[in-house]
Amino acid sequence: MDFEIKVYPDPVLRKKAEDVEKIDDEIIKILDTMRDMMYSYKGIGLAAEQIGLTKKLIVIDMMPEGTSELIQLINPKIVKAEDIYEEHEEGCLSVPGYYDVVKNRKKGIRVEYIDRNGNEQVIETEDFLSVVLQHEIDHLNGTLFVDRLSPIKRGLFKKEWKKIQKERQEKE
Ligand code: NI
Repeated sequence: MDFEIKVYPDPVLRKKAEDVEKIDDEIIKILDTMRDMMYSYKGIGLAAEQIGLTKKLIVIDMMPEGTSELIQLINPKIVKAEDIYEEHEEGCLSVPGYYDVVKNRKKGIRVEYIDRNGNEQVIETEDFLSVVLQHEIDHLNGTLFVDRLSPIKRGLFKKEWKKIQKERQEKE
């Protein structure tokens, strides 16, 4: 399987992911590929849509290089969220070179998912992991962090993005 990171405005990033019905060899292979790509691109999270697959799969590892705390989530869903909001600067492998503060992330969340062995798992967190989980689960719903910016900032993003694209093309 040969995959590449899909970059904004690729339409696959707007698709809603489907539930994984069965954890077979193909799903395990995809999870491993996502893990490897996340590490090689130095991301802290990756959703399947970012490699062009509309399946509810996410990998996360927020530990610094050389250490590892890999979480692989199948069919994750947020089942509880506090009504407290937090601001964090976010970036995304699918929007490379652009970073901005997202203001409407929930602070404490509870996420249920299936792990690669088929076991039900729960994560409850108020830490930065909460933001990362919301960012990645957004991907499964076709939402990018730049969609969560205010209309003014979104306008600025679009301008900035054109600049980033132009610079990238000039380099090539
Ligand atoms: Ni992302």
